Amino acid sequence: MKKIQFELNTKPQLNQFDTLIIPVFSEGQTISAAADFGINGLIEALDKQDDFKGKPAQTLMLHQVSQLACPRLLLVGMGELSKLTEKGYLSAIQAMAKTLENSGATRVLDTTHLATPKGQLQNWSLYQNSLILQRSFYDYNHESRGEHKPKNPHLAQLCFMAENNDSHQQAIQQGQATAIGMALTQDLANMPSNFCTPSYLADTAIQLGKQAGFKVTILERQQMIDMGMGSFMAVAQGTDTPPKMICIEYQGGSADQAPIALVGKGVTFDTGGISLKPGASMDEMKYDMGGAATVIGVFQALAELKPSINVVGVIPATENMPSGNAIKPGDVVRSLSGQTIEILNTDAEGRLILCDALTYAQQTYQPGLVIDIATLTGACIIALGNHVSGVLGNDQTLIEQLLASGRQTYDRCWQLPLGEEWDEQLKSNFADMANIGGREGGTITAAQFLARFTQEVKWAHLDIAGTAWQSGANKGASGRPVPMLVEFILQQARG
Ligand code: BES
Ligand code: MN
Ligand code: ZN
Repeated sequence: MKKIQFELNTKPQLNQFDTLIIPVFSEGQTISAAADFGINGLIEALDKQDDFKGKPAQTLMLHQVSQLACPRLLLVGMGELSKLTEKGYLSAIQAMAKTLENSGATRVLDTTHLATPKGQLQNWSLYQNSLILQRSFYDYNHESRGEHKPKNPHLAQLCFMAENNDSHQQAIQQGQATAIGMALTQDLANMPSNFCTPSYLADTAIQLGKQAGFKVTILERQQMIDMGMGSFMAVAQGTDTPPKMICIEYQGGSADQAPIALVGKGVTFDTGGISLKPGASMDEMKYDMGGAATVIGVFQALAELKPSINVVGVIPATENMPSGNAIKPGDVVRSLSGQTIEILNTDAEGRLILCDALTYAQQTYQPGLVIDIATLTGACIIALGNHVSGVLGNDQTLIEQLLASGRQTYDRCWQLPLGEEWDEQLKSNFADMANIGGREGGTITAAQFLARFTQEVKWAHLDIAGTAWQSGANKGASGRPVPMLVEFILQQARG
């Protein structure tokens, strides 16, 4: 992806730019930037004429404003100063990015970060602006998968009118690296399952590893059968497409430091298996590898940011298909952990592949903490909608840290409980546990299943069924929760 060249300068020369961006509040409140450039009068006049009143996310591009030393002036409405929320700010910056896309703006001086919403620091606005602007280049193009013809061919350089210091620079770098990671996550999740197979995910990881110096290891079907991953292999036995376990290692810390493990569900297509899903919207099950795509996107961002910490990614990848070889309801399998599972519904396949990946990650890497990321349950969409991911786990400190990272990046998650009452719903007469716990509390019983495989480690589970994808007119992958996880990892690296 083409990278914007970001800069910081408190005293920029306006004639070095072709576009100046100014935030405008409604009700006549102005910020100093407008006065600095001598356009207060112009903004007042536009307000009087009812041409531009600074309404939330309203934009106006003006050309050849007399006495302004650059040819374009872009006004961005912020609404009322006292009512500016984080969401309102983000909508305004998105509208600004859209207007830039449809213009020839190439060298831009941006001052919108000065309109930081209450409760946030300027770092936050710099991070969000660089993330949103860099993301505005993203456009899924099936023909040029992976290579982005930038949607905005002009924008090349963007200077924030702010002090050039380390913390501002870090905020911008984090925003840009996150956007680049999200683009990869979106590409993988948007790609149809006849292209984005487990092998394609593995190749993407290998490629990324070559570029960035990550160690990448791929386990094949026969190896995994021999190792005893009976649960993952039970799902994979129904498909001729080779399953893969993809392992990526980033070493930014000392060799003896226990890594963070990210485990991502990589079901490249979920038909439900013999417990076949209904036909409506089944196409969207190509994004059932959203957890895997998130892990790969996070590693892409790590390649950019190189934080001082160790991270491993473990991705079980397979299709979930009905076939003559597929698992059937009532089948019993033995997981890598030794615990046996009665598969009562073949559509609850995510937990079946994750449990072996969780065991494998603990045995192989002795991580300090494990986070799994999965489009695991439709119930999570019913409970929380599409705006926040579900988070559950066995370590409240870890959960609080994830909640905080989500709030900070506006890639939020919300905690659901775990407990013995829900665990009892997994009781089976024929194995150590069943793979479903009934309709009630479906997101919780799914996590309760995973909890049985993470008893010895700090663990959190992110259910991203609602957040990884948008349905409707703007249908497609969202790139979430890459922002939250990148922030979490950077916080952990800071100690
Ligand atoms: N991949 C689905 C969950 C899902 C559903 C994600 C809709 C995104 C949108 C998962 O494998 C699944 O099928 N879960 C079942 C579990 C049930 C059989 C216990 C579900 O949610 O219905
Ligand atoms: Mn399923
Ligand atoms: Zn699934």
